[in-house]
Amino acid sequence: MRLLITNIKQLCQTESAGSNLEKVSGAGMADLPCMDNAWLIAENGIIHSYGEMKELPNTHADETIDASGRLVLPAWCDSHTHLVFAGPRDGEFVDRIKGLSYEEIARRGGGILNSARKLNVMDEGELYEQSLERLHNVCAQGTGAIEIKSGYGLCLEGELKMLRVIRKLKENTKVTIKSSFLAAHAYPIEYKENKEAYIRLIIDEMLPRVAGEGLADYMDVFCEKGFFGIPETEMLLEAGWKYGLKPKIHANQLHHSGGVQVGVKHNAISVDHLECVGDEEIASLKTGNTMPVLLPGAAFFLGMHYQPARKIIDAGLPVCLATDYNPGSCPSGNVPLMLTLACTQLKMTPEEAVNSVTINGAAAMELQHEMGTIKVGKKANLILTQKIPSLAYIPYDYGNCPIERLIN
Ligand code: NIG
Ligand code: FE
Repeated sequence: MRLLITNIKQLCQTESAGSNLEKVSGAGMADLPCMDNAWLIAENGIIHSYGEMKELPNTHADETIDASGRLVLPAWCDSHTHLVFAGPRDGEFVDRIKGLSYEEIARRGGGILNSARKLNVMDEGELYEQSLERLHNVCAQGTGAIEIKSGYGLCLEGELKMLRVIRKLKENTKVTIKSSFLAAHAYPIEYKENKEAYIRLIIDEMLPRVAGEGLADYMDVFCEKGFFGIPETEMLLEAGWKYGLKPKIHANQLHHSGGVQVGVKHNAISVDHLECVGDEEIASLKTGNTMPVLLPGAAFFLGMHYQPARKIIDAGLPVCLATDYNPGSCPSGNVPLMLTLACTQLKMTPEEAVNSVTINGAAAMELQHEMGTIKVGKKANLILTQKIPSLAYIPYDYGNCPIERLIN
């Protein structure tokens, strides 16, 4: 199958064949290589060639798209989501409006524990159908690769059920999916007085099953005061490494809890959230290769202060953005909306924001050699926008999503 796209107003995030881009960092984040008035050929789902319209080859194609007035970009790579969940938590949303905090709701047995109760009584088929519908919706908004976490089972069967649903989504859709094992998301009520026993359950019973069945790519822990502390996080990350699960952890969402440093020390692929990040965390990130992933949708929805993206970029580091799509702190998987928050609240330029959800999003899932840029040999997983005046129009047009279709 040969697809030809012609008259592309602007082909964004191009990478030359000889380059081997891993991620973009610091001042380099402002650079978004683009080609005006371009064509692109995809052969069996892989980028075959591209160039300027004045050099359009005379070629046969099974399908031709006239992209006049439209931009083409690599699909978004959303590296942090909890897309598999069993229904919304709109009641807690109202509780928060009336003054309860996210942490207080969690202390009272709501929050993640509320989602776990719902998930453990839902059958796998229904959970799959709900999750598939969410996945289709985010794809319509341009997402082509996505990471999805477990963490609403909090018991062996529930965690396996979530991970099997993620595997079925991988098998039945064209979306590139990575999965993370997040049993260490909250302590179940029955372990409240014996937290050590829950850690043992994760390490001794869940991990061998999850790894044995090849159900996860990464090990995640909600490293936070009131959730999993530093010693527990270290124990869990070491156990994950023994089974080949690299860390990708929740860190520094609610407090300066030391999560960033622990992630860097254990060679995490990424440390995610980072609402509470200062000089020490930045110094730690500079010593390693761990990607800082910012989740502005969660800060927005919980009414928290935003992540210091400028400070991180100005320190020469990379920034990745992701949605954190989940029923508690960010019930949206809309990447274009995150781009708007990045520009208006995190003060990132549109080019920096697009880099953060393409090449850097790919890097936060170890997909930088397959996705994240328009490069010959990479997946032809592409966003075709509507007729729009510029790249900046994507974050500008907030709430509207100026994407015509996802090609994959
Ligand atoms: O990334 N912070 C921990 N986990 C999720 C939210 C989970 C929930 O509230 O259901 C997050 O924000
Ligand atoms: Fe999360």
